[in-house]
Amino acid sequence: MKHILLAGASGRLGREILAAGQPKSFTVHPLSRTEMSRIGETVAKLTKSSQDRFIVVDVTLPEGTETIVTSLLSGPHPSSLLAFIVGSTGHSDGQIEKLRETGSKIPVILSSNFSRGVYLFEELLNARTSTGASVSELARTLGFDLSLWESHHTLKKDAPSGTARTIANAAGVQPERIASTRVGAVVGEHTLFMSQESEELRITHTAHARRLFAEGALDLCARIFERPLGAGKFSMSEALRLLLKN
Ligand SMILES: NC(=O)c1ccc[n+]([C@@H]2O[C@H](COP(=O)([O-])OP(=O)(O)OC[C@H]3O[C@@H](n4cnc5c(N)ncnc54)[C@H](OP(=O)(O)O)[C@@H]3O)[C@@H](O)[C@H]2O)c1
Repeated sequence: MKHILLAGASGRLGREILAAGQPKSFTVHPLSRTEMSRIGETVAKLTKSSQDRFIVVDVTLPEGTETIVTSLLSGPHPSSLLAFIVGSTGHSDGQIEKLRETGSKIPVILSSNFSRGVYLFEELLNARTSTGASVSELARTLGFDLSLWESHHTLKKDAPSGTARTIANAAGVQPERIASTRVGAVVGEHTLFMSQESEELRITHTAHARRLFAEGALDLCARIFERPLGAGKFSMSEALRLLLKN
């Protein structure tokens, strides 16, 4: 059996993951706070056969991540635990360092955006054109000016979004060339503008529903169950690159 141990199941994203997980070929177990602090024991309790495999998915807040990290670092973990996927955001430098440390024991995937479309966006920007340059390098050579715009709902506290920073970094756009709008219930939109006086090329990613994050998280889990990663700390795109490689 394949099992996902879900920390933060009562939250907005956690509920989406529980709902999206129903028809899949694995079971999603919501973790209580006590279970989060005893991952080894929780895995042992749920293990019924030597075929059982587990992935911990964390969509809590940084304090929740810390509880799980402390538990994973405090003793040997069962080999049936294949990965720790961290979808929560806003970790301090110290917490990121602890996650790196945890990565020396089991694969840790730190993903501030589970969207597969955003992963494709990044891949597009990292790819080489036939000239050998990336799209953004080529655009600059051809005289285009590059900037980024992102829009999210009014409850989103950080601006620019973490995803905008990642895309800007991949396109060589300086952080001050990112514009942010907070309006209504927008799930998320990111547009890279390549513009010059007489023409403009735009690449846009639009998130239609929060469900996409849940589906992206479960897709990542399914790939890890099929093809477990080695120890280390990975971003979502680094993990997907390894998992999708022929
Ligand atoms: N990676 C992505 O694609 C993506 C997408 C959207 C959001 N996020 C991130 O995912 C996280 C959750 O977002 P959300 O909108 O679902 O938030 P939310 O609705 O506020 O849910 C937070 C969840 O974390 C739990 N929690 C809070 N503090 C905790 C602690 N100290 N120990 C253990 N559990 C704790 C809450 O449990 P209680 O109900 O018991 O308080 C709840 O289940 C945020 O960090 C957000 O930025 C990531």
